[in-house]
Amino acid sequence: MNLQFFELCNEVADAIKEEVSGLIGKPEAGEMLRIGADGTPTEKIDEVAENAALNVLESDGRSMRFVSEELGEKILGSKPEFTFVLDPIDGTFNAVNNIPFFCVPIAIGGSDLSEIRFGFVKNLINGDIYSAEKGKGAFLNSKRIHVSNYSKLPELSVISYSQRPHALPINNHNVRRVRVYGCAALELCYIASGIFDAFIDMRSMLRVTDIAAGKLIVEEAGGRVTDWNGDPLSTALDVRQRVNMIASNGHAHDKLLELG
Ligand code: IPD
Ligand code: CA
Repeated sequence: MNLQFFELCNEVADAIKEEVSGLIGKPEAGEMLRIGADGTPTEKIDEVAENAALNVLESDGRSMRFVSEELGEKILGSKPEFTFVLDPIDGTFNAVNNIPFFCVPIAIGGSDLSEIRFGFVKNLINGDIYSAEKGKGAFLNSKRIHVSNYSKLPELSVISYSQRPHALPINNHNVRRVRVYGCAALELCYIASGIFDAFIDMRSMLRVTDIAAGKLIVEEAGGRVTDWNGDPLSTALDVRQRVNMIASNGHAHDKLLELG
């Protein structure tokens, strides 16, 4: 495990947690300030979280390209060594409404989603940390995690955001259960740890900030992540990009794609 990256990510997540703690469940947290660089509203809690992260990264001193949902992109220092991809709060709706399911996802890599080499997701409710380094496996806290083994559709527990026109017909009649929790990064970690078997989002709404960390964590836990054609995801690390994805334990992947 790259301890330097892990510690930097954890410091950022803890600073965010501290700064947003007084806002959780408060109407002012959801005050809309402006449209962010990603094209969606920046609410007060998003801005407070992003500023907390920026403070930590600026005082860290390493030169990096900082890609974040609200501000878009900022070069820190003069010779960026890596790209630091942050969603300051994933699950803003949940946080504003005191629904206890939101997190800080961070990914570190080059210029494309396919080049992520470190992924980190911290659950801000219970402190759980999911992490992965390319080629070195995925972990929940310090314990190795693996995807599930189910392969038959009626056995599957699926998180599905699909909707027309590209919806896969996933429902409680053809799979075992369907759930949606509103925090894509943590939901992907549930695929990695084998609680759920697949995550499907065909709305063309996901941003690289939502999924970059979770994608690597699923892959390092033995899972498979593709677009709806079954091709690997490749998208510039830019908050204006939109992504469709199927992430699964691998065993059920082709059967899910065949539904389309
Ligand atoms: C949202 C969550 C949610 C997904 C939405 C995202 P945000 O992120 O990841 O699961 O369905 O598309 O916008 O806005 O809370 O960072
Ligand atoms: Ca967000």
